Amino acid sequence: MGLRGIVKWGPSDPRGEAPPLPGEIWREGVACVGRDRAPSQGGKERQGRASGRLRKGPVMVPLGGKNGLALPMKEGPRQSWPSDGGSRSALSLEEAAKQENGINGISNGGFYKRPFHESFEQAPMYVNVLTFVGFAVGTLFGYLRDFLRGCGLQKCVFAIEREEQKDFVPLYQDFENFFTRNLYVRIRDNWNRPICSVPGPQFDLMERISDDYNWTFRFTGRTIKNVINMGSYNYLGFAETEPSAIKTVGTVLSKYGTGVCSTRQEMGNLDKHVELENLVARFLGVEAAMAFGMGFATNSMNIPALVGKGCLILSDELSHTSLVLGARLSGATIRVFKHNNTQSLEKLLKEAVIHGQPRSRRAWKKILILVEGIYSMEGSIVRLPEIVALKKKYKAYIYLDEAHSIGAVGPTGRGVVEYFGMNPDDVDVLMGTFTKSFGAAGGYIAGRKELVDYVRTHSHSAAYATSMCPPVAEQIIRAMKCVMGLDGTTQGLQRVQRLAENTKYFRRRLHELGFIIYGNEDSPVVPLLVYIPGKIGAFARRMLAKNIGVVVVGFPATPITESRARFCVSASHTREMLDKVLNALDDLGDFLNLKYSQHSRSSRPDLYDETSFELED
Ligand SMILES: Cc1ncc(COP(=O)(O)O)c(C=O)c1O
Repeated sequence: MGLRGIVKWGPSDPRGEAPPLPGEIWREGVACVGRDRAPSQGGKERQGRASGRLRKGPVMVPLGGKNGLALPMKEGPRQSWPSDGGSRSALSLEEAAKQENGINGISNGGFYKRPFHESFEQAPMYVNVLTFVGFAVGTLFGYLRDFLRGCGLQKCVFAIEREEQKDFVPLYQDFENFFTRNLYVRIRDNWNRPICSVPGPQFDLMERISDDYNWTFRFTGRTIKNVINMGSYNYLGFAETEPSAIKTVGTVLSKYGTGVCSTRQEMGNLDKHVELENLVARFLGVEAAMAFGMGFATNSMNIPALVGKGCLILSDELSHTSLVLGARLSGATIRVFKHNNTQSLEKLLKEAVIHGQPRSRRAWKKILILVEGIYSMEGSIVRLPEIVALKKKYKAYIYLDEAHSIGAVGPTGRGVVEYFGMNPDDVDVLMGTFTKSFGAAGGYIAGRKELVDYVRTHSHSAAYATSMCPPVAEQIIRAMKCVMGLDGTTQGLQRVQRLAENTKYFRRRLHELGFIIYGNEDSPVVPLLVYIPGKIGAFARRMLAKNIGVVVVGFPATPITESRARFCVSASHTREMLDKVLNALDDLGDFLNLKYSQHSRSSRPDLYDETSFELED
């Protein structure tokens, strides 16, 4: 693991000049703080941050002649390489953006038309040392326990190898298994807590206890009432039970029932689906949209419909599992770029264009860039203007997953495209889910009509999965209409604004209290770094004792040394609720010594920029 300085400048600083302080004006009236995020593929394939080194992809051979298929919605049917090859790659991103601006009239010039503050402060050295010591001690005790279990001195509750297979290579043994058995289980009571109410700003939890050190749990029959919910993705507060708010959902339920019992391509195509899809397209400002019953399947089943063998997927290293699964199922070659790092992406694009496919030297049929609007573990916002400029420069396609950003950012909740003031046509495939901001379920694919028609006929989700249940479709319709003001009120817009205010307030106060928090200042996903493994359990238990429900996250969802609590701010949180949480955090931060930030104590943090990185052999 690389130990980092306090703030790293994002590799997007093209000039290598001394970066400004946070809040300083830089380049066309824009302030920018970035970082070079440590790669983590399941926590295992991390690369050193300090060195900024990148794992080299498979060696590719020079470009071949054959072009392949393009995504269906694009004119110019093939993924072709720039005819002037290397010389085009010498174009700066800004030049490329300017060229494109001339074409579509949308200004990405200077990339950011708005301030873009993103902070990923590094922990002080002693915290890193203590984190490693914590894991080392836990691991030693883990080996001791395994030894005692092997000798029969301690009872085994987990899966063990069968006696008749004892000469086989162990089936259930690997590091993650060891980790789960010996470290995770000790604090397991902080996960999978059953809730028994709507996940609004406050919720009720079912109390449970363990009689065997967290291997199993039993309910006590008591309910922990009115816990402040800082964990659900209820960004706009549409997860609600207020009868007047969900009246139309009730009406649709009594008219259509609950299930559709067929797929969209067979007998499961209802007027409610068409109404929803037209509304989604209008909301996003695109030609068409298709809705699916499950957000996860929207990614995992549609990516294989768009790309396949001979295509190249360039994925952010922190892409959600549904994107990763979709990419793997597609059979396309996958290469991973450093999180939100446009230099790393450009390097891969350049290599792909110059060398083509391995062995055959043919041109890649298509190149698809997978990114998310807001990254749910980091709270970072995709550098969309730069990535769009890159995709235009190298004639690749972009697939943008707005699961966490749709409804949650942008002046009217239209997601990151609106947040950056960009044109939705700049993104080839717009994907999002209805599970978060809209308090419902399902996902969508949106963009040009050709794209959506193609997905309608080719997606496994459309052909084989039962379509969305009508009351869920109605919940999305009513929430979306509210955000768009089509219900005749400004209530939806107020929710979007309240979320933005709550986010700014919560982040600012945490920063002032001295915590290390990650991500973009406009992101309602707020990770608070806890680092030391022993503190994860203590943090969540003590917060719950104060009637505050939090999500804590550790390996393998984060790098092993970056355990954190992840707060999700909602428009439905009142200022009193947020203050109660902040006061509790203030006390707990002192008690557990969690206030690691050096920013709040320093008017000028140490900055250094990293404008290049090397490939690792
Ligand atoms: C980025 C991203 N994409 C897709 C999904 C899957 O969506 P759903 O939970 O609606 O199935 C999630 C879920 O959290 C997500 O974070």
